[in-house]
Amino acid sequence: MKSNFLDRNLALEAVRITEVAALASSIHMGRGDETIADQSAVNAMRSFLNNMPISGRIVIGEGERDKAPMLYIGEKVGKGGTKVDIALDPLEGTTITAKGGENALSVLAMGEEGSFLHSPDIYMSKIAYGDKYKDLEIDPEDNPINIIKKFSNFSGIKTENVCVCILDRPRHNDLIRQVRSTGSRIKLIPDGDVSAIIATSIEDSGINIYMGIGGSPEGVLAAAALSCIGGKMYTKLIFEDNYTFERANDMGISDRNTIYTMSDLVKGDVMFSATGVTDGTLLKGVNFKNNTARTNSVVMRSKTKTIRYVNAEHNLNIKNIKF
Ligand code: FBP
Repeated sequence: MKSNFLDRNLALEAVRITEVAALASSIHMGRGDETIADQSAVNAMRSFLNNMPISGRIVIGEGERDKAPMLYIGEKVGKGGTKVDIALDPLEGTTITAKGGENALSVLAMGEEGSFLHSPDIYMSKIAYGDKYKDLEIDPEDNPINIIKKFSNFSGIKTENVCVCILDRPRHNDLIRQVRSTGSRIKLIPDGDVSAIIATSIEDSGINIYMGIGGSPEGVLAAAALSCIGGKMYTKLIFEDNYTFERANDMGISDRNTIYTMSDLVKGDVMFSATGVTDGTLLKGVNFKNNTARTNSVVMRSKTKTIRYVNAEHNLNIKNIKF
């Protein structure tokens, strides 16, 4: 990120993009239609991105070109200008939004070329904990019981007071059983691990460690946020079959067993923006009045470690958002 434009303006431009995607999707909150909620966020984000003076390349997006019609991996966005790589999730938490649950976000990260791990939309095993404990080294392939004991010893938090956040999925039954055997507490979440991973670095979020398998795009996005606010992640891509490995291989991944840590997931100076779609640990969701809507966003940069919370009131009669 060398240019002044990126340094001074891009972060605030990025907030406008996550704001508009959050506005567009949150109107569908609780209406039971994930597809419309997601598509509205994608349309809004794409149209704003294409008006930006950037030559953007999407490296983490809505999916691979053959599966995602818009904001797919490799799509070029912007009307020309500074070269940036983009990682995005216009609506992180489609089911959450459709059900009116908590912690849905619109998320965007940008950096210079090569900033983000190139990965297809496959599963990733993730362990994350907050910046306070960044000097704690663990073996992510060790069993969860040992990892929690190490965390407890290092942090001084008694095992019974440690809170581990895990996605509520049958694939995590064994993990949940092992964590419970340590006496630690668990916060099971229905969706939304970007927010959960960020929460490990937020004082008083109530979450100490995140563990489990979720999407790899969400892993890279969470790492982008932690590279700005601090925090530690250990991740490993999960190749369910040869096809998933071939897709990853096409993107430059040659080893099935690599452990990706923060510096592999995100490199150099990046910025991260998120706007709350529904209320959550990190941000408030969109609050609609008859003609206005309030948004709550956070934008941060890894270079300066500046964290800005942005509250905005949008006049819906003027703003051209296609719901
Ligand atoms: P979407 O926004 O695409 O619905 O993703 C939500 C999410 O819960 C992520 O936060 C998480 O990484 C992933 O889905 C888990 O995938 P799965 O639902 O297949 O277990």
